[in-house]
Amino acid sequence: MTSVFVLNGPNLNLLGGREPDVYGTATLADVERTCREVAGELGLMVDFRQSNSEGQLVDWLQEAGAEAAAGRAIGAVLNPGAYGHTSIALHDAIEGTRLPLVEVHISNVHRREAFRQHSYVSPVAAGIVVGFGVAGYPLAIRGLHGLAGRPAADPGLFR
Ligand code: DQA
Repeated sequence: MTSVFVLNGPNLNLLGGREPDVYGTATLADVERTCREVAGELGLMVDFRQSNSEGQLVDWLQEAGAEAAAGRAIGAVLNPGAYGHTSIALHDAIEGTRLPLVEVHISNVHRREAFRQHSYVSPVAAGIVVGFGVAGYPLAIRGLHGLAGRPAADPGLFR
């Protein structure tokens, strides 16, 4: 069975209790459950992970890239957390493995502080989902699934 990686960066383990006015009250376990439901509908397995460590995320992106290259995964959904704003290493891991990836941010980073408005991940992402709360995760899985197997310039319609 084909899988989809859902990778979460620093502080996302705190979801539910962390700034609920910004990130909502759903926990990361709630997000995982929703991801499994929507992936199940699409016939995909989910590899759902979270780490506060940049190097761990790089290792996981490389693993996801290898799985995608082998045809065992459609790619990855990544909420890079704050590393999206700082990490050339995440950018290079995605680019270097040609990993099909959708970047997710729960909050609308573009109407927050200026330092959240640049992402090192966005230029190497196939798509970006920003500001839909945790509902962005299932949207990203559907989007990635819709893109799977299509040329980058021809996303077509989501099924
Ligand atoms: C976030 C936005 C980032 O700016 C922040 O550092 C996070 C969460 C989001 O999901 O909205 O940790 O990625």
